[in-house]
Amino acid sequence: MNLEATIRNIKDFPKEGIDFKDITTLLKDGKAFKCAVDQIIEDLKDKNVDVIVGPEARGFLMGTPVAYGLEIGFVPVRKPGKLPAETEKFEYDLEYGTDVLEIHKDAIKPGQRVAIVDDLLATGGTMGAAAKLIEKLGGEVVAMEFLIELEFLNGRKKIDNYHINSLITY
Ligand code: PRP
Repeated sequence: MNLEATIRNIKDFPKEGIDFKDITTLLKDGKAFKCAVDQIIEDLKDKNVDVIVGPEARGFLMGTPVAYGLEIGFVPVRKPGKLPAETEKFEYDLEYGTDVLEIHKDAIKPGQRVAIVDDLLATGGTMGAAAKLIEKLGGEVVAMEFLIELEFLNGRKKIDNYHINSLITY
C-alpha cells in the first residue's frame, strides 16, 4: 500500500516556509492506519520488546496500537506538568530555546527492552530526549520507529547509535 499517498501536505503551517505533514488523513483511512501499525509491529516482533514508549501527543496515536498488537504495555512521555506521579525530566535544545519532557519514574524497570514509537523524525530532539529518559531509568532502547522521517533535517545524526525504522521518508 502507498502510505505516502495518504499523508496530506499543508504549506506554510504552523508558519511560513514549513511544509507540514498532516497524518490525520492517514489515521482516518482504516486500511492505511492498519498497514502502518502492522509494518512497525513487523519490525519489532523479533526484538523481544518489553514496553512501548510514545511521546505526546502524536506518539500516543502510533504507539498505543503497536503496544496493543504486541500485547505489551505502553508508557507515555509527556510535556511538563501533565504526569501526576513522581517524574524524571530531561531538558533538550530547540532551534530557539529549550523544551522539557517527562516520564513517570516507575514506568520502566531496569533492564527492560524498550521501543519508542512516534509519528515523525524531524530534528531528532524529541526522540533523543525520550531515549535519555528511558536510559536514566535503566531501560535499554532497542528500536526507534517512525511513520515519517524528514531526512533533510538530519535528525538521525542525533540518534545514530540506535536502530531506526521509518516507513515514509522525505
Ligand atoms: C512533533 C512530532 C514529534 C516531534 C518531532 O511533536 O510528533 O514528536 O515533533 O520533532 P523533532 O524530531 O524535531 O523533535 P510536537 O512536539 O509538535 O507535539 P505534538 O505531537 O503534541 O503535536
